[in-house]
Amino acid sequence: MAFRFIVPLLIILGCTAWGTSPLVGQLMHSWLLSDVELRSQLVFHSIHDTVDVMISTKDDVKMDELFRSIASDERLLALGLCTSNRMLMHRSPEWPKILACPAPEQRFVVEHLAAGPVLAASFALSSTESDQRYLVIVHDLTFIERRSSTLENYLSVFLGVLGVVVALITALVAQLTLRGWIQVMYKSLTTPDQGHAHKKLLEPEIAPLVREVRKMLRGLDAPKSAADAIRIDWNPESLRTLLRNELPEAQVIVVSNREPYIHHEEEDGSIVLQRPASGLVTALEPICRACGGTWIAHGSGSADRRTVDANDRLAVPPGAPTYTLRRLWLSDEEQDGYYYGLANAGLWPLCHIAFVRPVFRTEDWEQYVAVNRKFADAVVAEAKTQNPVLLVQDYHFALLPRMVRERLPNATIITFWHIPWPNPEAFSICPWREEILWGMLGSSILGFHTRFHCLNFLESVDRFLECHIDREQSIVSTGSSTTVVRPYPISIEWPPTALANQCAVPVCRAMIRQQYGLAENTLLAVGVERFDYTKGIAERFHAVAHLLEHHPEWIGRFTFLQIAAPTRSQLSAYRNTQLEAEVVTRTINERFGTAGWVPIILVAKHHDPEAVFTLFRAADLCMVSSLHDGMNLVAKEFVAARDDEDGVLILSTFAGASRELLEALIVNPYDCHAMGDALHRGLTMPLEHRRERMRLMREMVSERNIYFWAGRMLLDASRMRKRHRIEADLTFVETSSSNRRRGGTV
Ligand code: G6P
Repeated sequence: MAFRFIVPLLIILGCTAWGTSPLVGQLMHSWLLSDVELRSQLVFHSIHDTVDVMISTKDDVKMDELFRSIASDERLLALGLCTSNRMLMHRSPEWPKILACPAPEQRFVVEHLAAGPVLAASFALSSTESDQRYLVIVHDLTFIERRSSTLENYLSVFLGVLGVVVALITALVAQLTLRGWIQVMYKSLTTPDQGHAHKKLLEPEIAPLVREVRKMLRGLDAPKSAADAIRIDWNPESLRTLLRNELPEAQVIVVSNREPYIHHEEEDGSIVLQRPASGLVTALEPICRACGGTWIAHGSGSADRRTVDANDRLAVPPGAPTYTLRRLWLSDEEQDGYYYGLANAGLWPLCHIAFVRPVFRTEDWEQYVAVNRKFADAVVAEAKTQNPVLLVQDYHFALLPRMVRERLPNATIITFWHIPWPNPEAFSICPWREEILWGMLGSSILGFHTRFHCLNFLESVDRFLECHIDREQSIVSTGSSTTVVRPYPISIEWPPTALANQCAVPVCRAMIRQQYGLAENTLLAVGVERFDYTKGIAERFHAVAHLLEHHPEWIGRFTFLQIAAPTRSQLSAYRNTQLEAEVVTRTINERFGTAGWVPIILVAKHHDPEAVFTLFRAADLCMVSSLHDGMNLVAKEFVAARDDEDGVLILSTFAGASRELLEALIVNPYDCHAMGDALHRGLTMPLEHRRERMRLMREMVSERNIYFWAGRMLLDASRMRKRHRIEADLTFVETSSSNRRRGGTV
């Protein structure tokens, strides 16, 4: 380190010495020379009268004596008397033999003789004779040479020593300053936040450095997390390891409306356990099994109260519990306003562009606010520390992140929005748009399935709120908090639990065909979802009609089996969806059906994941024709179910999954003709093509599984927690520095 200062400094000083010493030598030389010239003049003035007399009296003896006595001076070498035609008439004995009389017009002449340089200074005498005489005084100049070179040497040595001393001092000061800065930085990085009073302040000069470090930290954050996530082989164990290493002692709390396990009471009083048909639950449950913690959800089952302990808690999964389900009870009024009202009659159609008009009622909004508060209270009550990691799920809880943030400012709140986010134009019709955005921005991390939804969200924030948006880093700062907005495409567990006890594919095929009374060689297409108008169920039935109309060879050879779990049937839009699907099914079956064969079988019933997987394995084709969908996990489940690497997936371009499952047959669900053609193409696709596509899709889902989804969010969260700690310290340093600066100048 010190060499970085010393070497360049020495080079600079060396060059300076090398360049300046000769100059100083020359200067010295000319000073001494003019000194000698002055001395010559003095000598001349003191003797010229005497010499004039001696010339006029022609007293050569006295002149010789005079010359000899003056020339005995140390640096005065000789004296001579010259004529105007440069003849030497008299000279002292030391007069150099080869030195001629200087020309009369030259007053001072430097001659370089073998013995060294001499100065010949000639002065006209006031002789009255016809011939002019000159007194020439010769000075020995060798002492000038000696002095100049001695000076040059001294100067060089002096500059050299000075250079080393200055370099050493500079290096020492730099080292000490740097060590001080590093110590404070290091403290910031390693000491947990314990208040700032004990911390040493830095000089104001460090403020720019602090800003740079902060920028650098931000910049490093995004790319590194993605790279880390890709390197890891994601499974329950790697997720547990990540939690242990990156978020040690962090308490994980999940909040969702739908609970992962519902207990229903049968008519005979017995209790049955149900797994809800919800993409959210499908995705989150494996995470909780891996990470433990507490899942807070609405206890909606008729036997839910009978199965919890005194604190409304229940250890799940039943039989092999790994986490706690904390049930919260909602009155019918709350349920109507918050769940059916604002969430499903308002926000759901608002965010899904399926052309069902959203309904916004003030009473619903009030219930929505109250229920969000109720869940936020439960989160605070369940939190064992001041900084839990909270995973908030979906559009039911847009306000909860801010409510929790206000009470647990150090919590890491990760909110995931499982449905699409509309463009600002569409979003603007919501009467509580500002409140919803503000509530969501209480989150530390806000996740959507696709980048497109993130951009729509940022645009909405930009349009309706006063805040700062860093588009490069996708960060929204509201003054009191910052939210990172990122895409995290959700997925499913891999390998799926529901696959564990499945029969071989040929057995599943035979079983399902037998169950539904289908001929052995019938080609089977399936659709599995909740009865939701966003799923495009009637649209896919129209596609079946188009297929049979244009490819009648499929009549009697192909069947579409649609499983649809009734959902939210309190809302007319949902009842109508089911009615419409039933009517369309009937119409098409009447039109194309033959004795013992119908083209569409519609089963309006909830199926457990295992039954759904059996169905997928029995099918030749799966159709997902959502009019709009955040991700759609049915598409990924179908791919996961096909460990025989066969089967064709037809997938709507308006489902987030189409951004990942590129080898599916991608369709526009509004174009029933094209969907009919896709059905034909899928049913006639050669085996190698089916395998090639399925293999690629399986690779994708196996790598980007649900642990990858959660792992990336938790990695981002852990990095954010570390960064916030550092930033808090840096902010303190900045503030203290500027306060001190201000204090110093006022
Ligand atoms: C689907 C959506 C989720 C949503 C869930 C709610 O799975 O993708 O975003 O949370 O439905 O369903 P539920 O039956 O609980 O209303």
